[in-house]
Amino acid sequence: MINRNPQLNKHRKLQHLLTTEELPAAILLQILNTAETFVGVTERDVKKVPLLRGKSIFNLFFEPSTRTRTTFEIAAKRLSADVFNLNIAVSAQSKGETLLDTVNNLAAMDADMFVVRHAQSGAAHLIAKHARPGIHVINAGDGRHAHPTQALLDMFTIRRFKHEFHNLRVAIIGDILHSRVARSQIHALTTLGVPEVRVIAPKTLLPNNVERLGVRVFHDMNSGLENIDVLMMLRLQKERMQGAYLPSSEEYFKNYGLTPEKLSMARPDAIVMHPGPMNRGVEIDSAVADGGQSVILPQVTFGIAIRMAVMSILAGQQV
Ligand code: CP
Repeated sequence: MINRNPQLNKHRKLQHLLTTEELPAAILLQILNTAETFVGVTERDVKKVPLLRGKSIFNLFFEPSTRTRTTFEIAAKRLSADVFNLNIAVSAQSKGETLLDTVNNLAAMDADMFVVRHAQSGAAHLIAKHARPGIHVINAGDGRHAHPTQALLDMFTIRRFKHEFHNLRVAIIGDILHSRVARSQIHALTTLGVPEVRVIAPKTLLPNNVERLGVRVFHDMNSGLENIDVLMMLRLQKERMQGAYLPSSEEYFKNYGLTPEKLSMARPDAIVMHPGPMNRGVEIDSAVADGGQSVILPQVTFGIAIRMAVMSILAGQQV
């Protein structure tokens, strides 16, 4: 059989985690189910298991990160791996070394796994394509393209609070155009059987032909939030915007910022999610971010178990 999915090996097992696109439901569920076992580990007094003892994991973050980098490091340490955080600012990248040369040099130090965040879409794919056999690459966010572990921790959070996927209406709200998180969420939600995924945004913040991803498009919060079970908020990614996409942040908040009044358009038991970092007063009001329907901090906590699951599955070491 020809294997066209670069993240699966010839046995259709996970070799790298690069995107949720075309990842079979069985693998998504394997990761979610494995993460359930690690939630138990993270709740114990001794939070360590020896599954990745002796393995070397390199965190290569070429873009800023708080949640992803830290939870990958915690996850690797809880699996007893040796973790190395490359300090990009003082690395030889500043002397003109290419990405692949940097990675090849780290591979020569017996790296087993690379966790990569990069501003260029496709950076993790490039490393995976050139990595020697046996090395695993995890995409921790590349450009506008994909952020698969974020989408997986989001799916885990939804399943924890809503139990099933097949009866949900989910809305993703905000800057879909520049969001790698939104793309990864849409692929994961549709693969896991969510029957209705909506995107709510001004036209300027939606990709062309976004409907082809299997979503319903709304430009208005009142109609878009009707009967919604899960709201996934996104920030305006100003660092990826060239030119003016919006009249002002104030105007955006008036129309798309999630306030208690707008949240009341959704189902009364709806949950509010946000991948972070949040811009309070731009896409979300503090009363909602810190309110009873917010599951934003549990998302962060579940990120540790999800990242433990991904790394242990890649290394072929599951509990
Ligand atoms: N959600 C997310 O990727 O956050 P960080 O940029 O802090 O890693």
